[in-house]
Amino acid sequence: MRILSPEAGDVDLVERYAYPPDRAWMRANMVASLDGAAQRDERSGGLGCPADQHLFLLLRGLADVVVVGAGTVRAEGYGPVRPSEGWEGVRDGRAPVPPLAVVSRTLDLDFDAPIFTEAASPTIVLTTATSDPARLEAARERADVIVAGRDSLDFTAAVKELEARGHRRLLCEGGPGVLAQVVAAGLLDELCLTISPLLLAGHPTRILNGPPVPVPPELTLAHALEDENFLFLRYTRSR
Ligand SMILES: NC(=O)c1ccc[n+]([C@@H]2O[C@H](COP(=O)([O-])OP(=O)(O)OC[C@H]3O[C@@H](n4cnc5c(N)ncnc54)[C@H](OP(=O)(O)O)[C@@H]3O)[C@@H](O)[C@H]2O)c1
Repeated sequence: MRILSPEAGDVDLVERYAYPPDRAWMRANMVASLDGAAQRDERSGGLGCPADQHLFLLLRGLADVVVVGAGTVRAEGYGPVRPSEGWEGVRDGRAPVPPLAVVSRTLDLDFDAPIFTEAASPTIVLTTATSDPARLEAARERADVIVAGRDSLDFTAAVKELEARGHRRLLCEGGPGVLAQVVAAGLLDELCLTISPLLLAGHPTRILNGPPVPVPPELTLAHALEDENFLFLRYTRSR
């Protein structure tokens, strides 16, 4: 066991969080309290801090596409991704913002909302072959729809489709239901976890919410950063 001594000075976050240049890569970015809660008052915002928000936005800037579950889109009132402070130079040669890719079976989404109507990079919908035909048509009018799987999204096939569209730097923003399936499918390469210095109890979920992962991935600590008692852990998959 060893103590992690704080290094003096600021870190270059763009360099620290750079995606590997040579392969497709799925990163997840999540926040949890010290007692493992992934929600506070049914949202994740109450767990964060300014540095966490900054990192959340920077990781979007580094990504080619942001995968998120419809549960999170509804709970957090997601709008489209917009350019942010700290993105200078990080998107050179790419679209000004990454599209969102929303996972939904029911397609219970407001296709007239800004997330679809004001997205600079058209929002993608990842859905199943048995989704409601009328809603599927509405989705196709406002979004780039990827159908993968019959009753349940085939995450592996959906990610292949995203990669085929040139999206190699993937960012998953959860929620816990989606992340559990991404991990179960063996698709996760990296977890960025913010540990929030709070003890909450109650009945929130953990950052993965699903059945036991059949083959739990082994992860290696790539770095640990600190800001105002929050920890920013970056774990990558051991191969
Ligand atoms: N702590 C964190 O870092 C963090 C991050 C994100 C979110 N959150 C919080 O977590 C909560 C939301 O998480 P959640 O787990 O309930 O929702 P979620 O994972 O964001 O989304 C779940 C939804 O995704 C769709 N979906 C999931 N699996 C599917 C499959 N196999 N096939 C087709 N569609 C599928 C379904 O959408 P339909 O219902 O539309 O079919 C399902 O209801 C919110 O409270 C949010 O604030 C926390």
